[in-house]
Amino acid sequence: MSEPEIENLLSETRRFAPAREFAAQAIAQPGIYDEAEDFVEFWSKQAKSLHWHKPFTKALDFSDAPFAKWFEDGELNVSYNCLDRHVEAGWGKRIALFFEGEPGDSKTYTYLDLLTEVKKAANLLIKLGVRAGDRVAIYMPHIPEAVIAMQAVARIGAVHSVVFGGFSADSLADRIQDAGAKLVITADGGYRKGKALPLKPAVDEALANEKCPSVEKVLVVKRCANEIAWDESRDLWWDEEMALVDKEHVAQGFSAEHPLFILYTSGSTGKPKGILHTTGGYLTQTSYTHKNVFDLHEGQDVYWCTADVGWITGHSYVVYGPMANGATQVIYEGTPDTPDWGRWWDIVQKYHVNIFYTAPTAIRTFMKLGSKVVSHYDLSSLRLLGSVGEPINPEAWIWYRDVIGSGKTPIVDTWWQTETGAIMISPLPGITETKPGSAMKPLPGISAAVVDDDGKVVGNGHGGYLTITQPWPSMLRGIWGDPERFKQTYWSRFPGKYFAGDGAKLDEDGDLWLLGRVDDVMNVSGHRLSTTEIESALVAHPYVAEAAVVGASDATTGQAVVAFVILRRSQLDHTGSEADITKELRDHVAKMIGPIAKPRTIFVVSELPKTRSGKIMRRLLRDVAEDRPIGDVTTLSDTTVMDTIKTRVGLGAED
Ligand code: PRX
Repeated sequence: MSEPEIENLLSETRRFAPAREFAAQAIAQPGIYDEAEDFVEFWSKQAKSLHWHKPFTKALDFSDAPFAKWFEDGELNVSYNCLDRHVEAGWGKRIALFFEGEPGDSKTYTYLDLLTEVKKAANLLIKLGVRAGDRVAIYMPHIPEAVIAMQAVARIGAVHSVVFGGFSADSLADRIQDAGAKLVITADGGYRKGKALPLKPAVDEALANEKCPSVEKVLVVKRCANEIAWDESRDLWWDEEMALVDKEHVAQGFSAEHPLFILYTSGSTGKPKGILHTTGGYLTQTSYTHKNVFDLHEGQDVYWCTADVGWITGHSYVVYGPMANGATQVIYEGTPDTPDWGRWWDIVQKYHVNIFYTAPTAIRTFMKLGSKVVSHYDLSSLRLLGSVGEPINPEAWIWYRDVIGSGKTPIVDTWWQTETGAIMISPLPGITETKPGSAMKPLPGISAAVVDDDGKVVGNGHGGYLTITQPWPSMLRGIWGDPERFKQTYWSRFPGKYFAGDGAKLDEDGDLWLLGRVDDVMNVSGHRLSTTEIESALVAHPYVAEAAVVGASDATTGQAVVAFVILRRSQLDHTGSEADITKELRDHVAKMIGPIAKPRTIFVVSELPKTRSGKIMRRLLRDVAEDRPIGDVTTLSDTTVMDTIKTRVGLGAED
C-alpha cells in the first residue's frame, strides 16, 4: 500500500455498532472472548463438535515447535464430517449445492446426492490404485465435480493438490512433480466469459515427454464436450467410470494429523511453496470460523463464497467449513460479467442468498461500474457480507454495505492466509463494532501481535509486522518436502512467533489495520504472486538479460504487476517495435505461469537500480511504476540510474 493510501485508511473515523436485532439472533455471543482465554481448552471444546471415530485425549503438542500437532491421537474422517453425519442426522434432503453454470445451466445437489457421488468417487479412486497418503492433482473448473473429487480424495485419506485452472501447463507440471501425484483429475474444459476454455490440453502438455512419471491415470470430467486429444493408455472419462463403481463406501477414521491437502502458493523465492494442511485442526477451525464469522444458521441460510476451489478460500469456505456445518451454498462457474455485469446479483436474487463472501477487487470493480448495475436486482435477502484477500479501502467497504447490503448488513473483513488455513482476524457479527477498512481483532482462540524490527510488541497507535504468537488448529504443518524452508520462512525472523509477511498498524483502540505485504509477494486481485517467480519467467526468455518486477498500486486490482527489463539486443530475432517485444514477453509470462501473472506493464530500460552489493532496489522502481517522486537514492551504486529510467518509462507498453 502506498503512503497516501495508508494515511487515508488510518484517518477513517466512521463506526458501525451491531444492530440490536442482529445481535439478538447471532451465533457468536459476547462471552466468547472470555471463554477463549485458555486457547487450548477453547479449541478442544470446538473440536468436540466434530464427529470423531476415536476421541482425542490431548489437544495440543507443540514440543517440537514450530511443528504443531493438534488432537493427534484422535481419529476422524473429513468427508464423514461434511456429509455422512448430516444425512444420518436426517438432513439428507437439505440442499448442499446450488450449482449455477456460466451458460445458464443449473443443478441442485442435496446432502444425500452429494454423499452418493462422493462415495462412488471414493470407490473409483480406490479402483484406480489411490491409497491413503497418495497425492492426487485436481485441475478443474469451478463445478460440483471439483468439490466431489476433493471430498472423495479426503474420504480415503489421500492428499489433494488443487491447481487453479488459470495456471499454465508448466506451472501444473511443476506442482504435479513436486507432490509426486499419482492421478490427475481434470475436465475437458470449463466455461469462462461465454466460451469453453479448454483445460485438458494443459494436462496433456504437462504430462508430455514423461515429464511427470508419477502420474498413472487422468480422469476427465465432460463439461464442455470440446474436442480433446485422448491417450487410451492413460485417460478415462469420469462419468463412464463413475457408472461402474459401487455406491456404498464406509468412511474410516484417520489420525487428526493425517495430511489433507497441499496447496501451492507464491513465496518470496521463485519456487512456489506446497503448503501442507492436516485434518482435525483444520476442520475444527474452518467450521468454527465459518459458523461464527458468517453467522451461519444451518438449514435457514443460503451462503455464497465467490472464490474458486483452486484457492485456499475455496478450500476452507466452499468445500470444508460450510459442508462441515451442513450449509446450503451456491457455486458459480463463471465470471461476474457474463453475459453482463448483473450476473452475480441475478444469482443472489435467484437463490435468495443471505451470506455473501467475496474479494475487495470485485467490490471495487462494481463500485467503478456504478450502483445502476446492481439496482435492477432484489438483494434484500442479504444479511451479512464478507471480504477477503487484500486490504479493503474504506470507500469500497462503505459502498459494499450501502449498495450491496442496503445500508444495513454487517461486514466482516476477514484476514487470513493459505498458511493459516482459516480466518484469524475478523469482527464477529453481532458483537464487534466495526470500522471500515479494519479487520479489527484476532478471533477467540487466536493471538496476534504487531512487532517492530527487533521483535518488540508495539503499543497502540503504532505500526510494524503482523505476527501470530500462539499455535492455532488450522495452521500449516509445513512446506511439502522442505521442513527447513518452513522454519526459515515463517519462524526465523521473530523467534517463537509466526511471521505472516504483512505490515499492520494498531489504532488508538488497539484495533488492527492490515497494510499489505512487506516481502516480495504481490497481491493482484486477491491472488498471491511472487516478484521473483515472474522475474525468473522473464529472464528465461532469450530476449531478456535482466528483469525486476514490482507490485504497483492499482485502483481496481489492489496491486498490478509491473516489470522492468533490460533486453539482450543481440538476441532479438525480429525488428518489431518495442510494443511487439513487450507483448511477446507478457504472453511468455502467461504461458510460463498463467494469465494471472501477466505483467500489466513492461518497461524496457537500459539499467536497473542496484545497491553496491548488487541488490535491486525495488522500492525505487515502485516509485517509478506509481509515478511519484523517487525516494532516497543514496545507497545506489550509481545514483544517476533513476534519471535514465525515468526518461525511458514514457515508452512502456501497457494494456
Ligand atoms: O497480505 C494478506 C492478504 O492476502 C495474503 C494471503 O494471501 P493468500 O494466501 O492467497 O490467501 C488469500 C485468502 C485468505 C495475506 O498475507 N490478505 C488476506 N486477507 C486480507 C488480506 N489483507 C488485508 N485484509 C484482509 N482481510
